[in-house]
Amino acid sequence: MTTSIPPSPGELARAADILRQGGVVAFPTETVYGLGASAFDVEALARVFEVKGRPLFDPLIVHVPGIDHARPLVRQFPEPAQKLAARFWPGPLTLVLHKSMLVPDLATAGCPTVAVRVPDHPVALELLRLTGVPLAAPSANLFGRISPTTAAHVREQLGEQIDLILDGGPCRVGVESTVVQLTENRPVLLRPGGTPLEEIETLIGPVELPAPAASEPANPGLASPGTLPRHYAPHTPLTIDRHQAAEAGSGTSTAGPGSPWRVGLLAFTAPADSGRFHQVEILSPAGDLREATSRFFSALRRLDAAGLDLIVAETFPEHGLGRALNDRLRRAAHR
Ligand code: TXA
Ligand code: MG
Repeated sequence: MTTSIPPSPGELARAADILRQGGVVAFPTETVYGLGASAFDVEALARVFEVKGRPLFDPLIVHVPGIDHARPLVRQFPEPAQKLAARFWPGPLTLVLHKSMLVPDLATAGCPTVAVRVPDHPVALELLRLTGVPLAAPSANLFGRISPTTAAHVREQLGEQIDLILDGGPCRVGVESTVVQLTENRPVLLRPGGTPLEEIETLIGPVELPAPAASEPANPGLASPGTLPRHYAPHTPLTIDRHQAAEAGSGTSTAGPGSPWRVGLLAFTAPADSGRFHQVEILSPAGDLREATSRFFSALRRLDAAGLDLIVAETFPEHGLGRALNDRLRRAAHR
């Protein structure tokens, strides 16, 4: 069942009870909805993998209510990590550090490292405080599919299988946290996300970028699984190929009015040729990346539900949040 917005103190207390007893609860964060379980309860963690259909080589992010709660989970908190935590927590930044003995291997999928973050959402923070244990929480969607930014999205995909969904309204940021690994000399960006890379580099210097998602990694266990080439994907074929987009919009070839093909457009700003598409989602008429990000996954879901043959997506400027959105588009387009 889903609770009302915002969840009452009684509902939050019930959610915390369920989690302490090994249950699984979906909760809002500023990025996307998470599917939470006690990070210390391996049976509850196993249920999270099962409900999501998530492969066991894909580690979970452990959520805590503050930096002091993160320290016992890691062996060291190197200086760049401290700087980042001080500046960006609570917020959409996940730090990957060497794990301590406290963190079960299942939470990290056998990795010697653990991903930790402090979410910037009053419901998530209150739930973490009330539960009193760290919560491992992947995004509350089926593995590889579109991420959930409302409680209704969670209900559609996972509703029957989980104990409770806390409804905190639509997620403010709308794309997952940025994941940075800080276990080697040089920090590595494992996933672009809600905290812009430029702001991270201003604080700690150069960050190594991941290789482009052109092919399957030779051994998926060695890469960050969020870097799998196909991810965040609608059922409808999606293309970011400009040539194909031009053809689809031309009305003279495979699509357009009078054509049997139904083509939708995911546009950043208002396109000149929107009349040529069966359905158009404009993410930000004013060209504001923050607004576009907050609408991105919902718009993709609407297009996916519209019975289209093809979704054509425009790419975003490759800076700030645009980098995270382009990353999600490339993976959604990968076949
Ligand atoms: O914004 C978010 O991060 C959301 C909310 C719910 O907090 N969570 C989320 O979780 O996106 P998930 O499971 O969908 O993505 C976690 C990402 C994956 O790419 C995973 O591979 C990576 O973090 N990750 C987790 N632990 C890791 C580790 N020890 N080493 C490398 N990558 C790790
Ligand atoms: Mg996910």
